[in-house]
Amino acid sequence: MADPNPRILPYGMAAIAEGAARIGRGECVAVPTETVYGLAADAGNADAVAGIYAAKGRPSFNPLIVHVADLAAAEALAVFDADARRLAAMFWPGPLTLVLPLRHGAPIASLVTAGLDTLAIRVPRHRAMQALIAASGRALAAPSANASNGISPTRAGHVALSLGDRVPLIIDDGATEAGLESTIVAGRTILRPGPIGAADLPFAVRPRFADPHSIDSAREAITAPGQLATHYAPRKPLRLEATAARPDEWLIGHDSITGDDMLSSSGDLREAAARLFDALHRADASDRAAIAVAPVPHEGLGVAINDRLSRAAHR
Ligand code: TXA
Ligand code: MG
Repeated sequence: MADPNPRILPYGMAAIAEGAARIGRGECVAVPTETVYGLAADAGNADAVAGIYAAKGRPSFNPLIVHVADLAAAEALAVFDADARRLAAMFWPGPLTLVLPLRHGAPIASLVTAGLDTLAIRVPRHRAMQALIAASGRALAAPSANASNGISPTRAGHVALSLGDRVPLIIDDGATEAGLESTIVAGRTILRPGPIGAADLPFAVRPRFADPHSIDSAREAITAPGQLATHYAPRKPLRLEATAARPDEWLIGHDSITGDDMLSSSGDLREAAARLFDALHRADASDRAAIAVAPVPHEGLGVAINDRLSRAAHR
């Protein structure tokens, strides 16, 4: 039976030991990564993975990312080509997810891939996620630790608010560094923009983000997930490119536009990315009926920030 309230333990040996024990018993554990907090479970245990879907209320066609300790562990589960090895060497451990052919016979529950013959996999950099993988000795499936379609969590408190007693343990290691989910690359296509931008990659990519809401077929929804239009949505209406607040709007400012809250008053895009979801959580909890967000330049990290914002505004 689920605990009545989530236990929030600070990162440390006790938290990792309890987390690993729970993973071994097939439970879910919320744990920070360098991007956002993840809801982790043993990727080889179908019941455990079903527990992730249940806790999030996530539609089962949306597959999960698997987290492993290093490249060797990743190669045991997925088939790497030269491009994939090069990306892994450049960015792992770090906020890059590779979609690769699933290795035949790899011990991954089919619920993880939602039946696809590809696997989304990454080697995270965060000490808590790394320690949990090592102590549990498992590959960990972990989506962002929020209820499906909610705002992604960048703090332990966000997880507790969104999932409550549906998660038995939250390992708290403060605010996450990047604040945006990992960049997802399949072949030479970016499926989801993120902390690593197109310009950081060692080859030209085919951009697929001219219109993030144009995706209409079920097949595209699976090969380009995270594209579901209602992803990352706050509960309140959200207006973009706002230069001033209208009556009853909570303005999230940026750069020279000052609001109730700020992404970055110096226009720093790394700071803005790290603060984005936190700012959306605060806006959703404010006493104002609607949310407005100041313009963020559509370049560099701003591409990923605007991707999340346009999704949050679409309802
Ligand atoms: O930064 C992150 O990636 C965080 C942390 C916890 O690692 N995780 C995360 O997971 O954002 P999630 O489940 O919220 O997003 C995973 C994305 C979804 O859009 C999913 O559909 C896509 O990865 N995905 C998973 N497997 C896939 C596959 N085989 N092919 C294409 N996309 C896949
Ligand atoms: Mg998510």
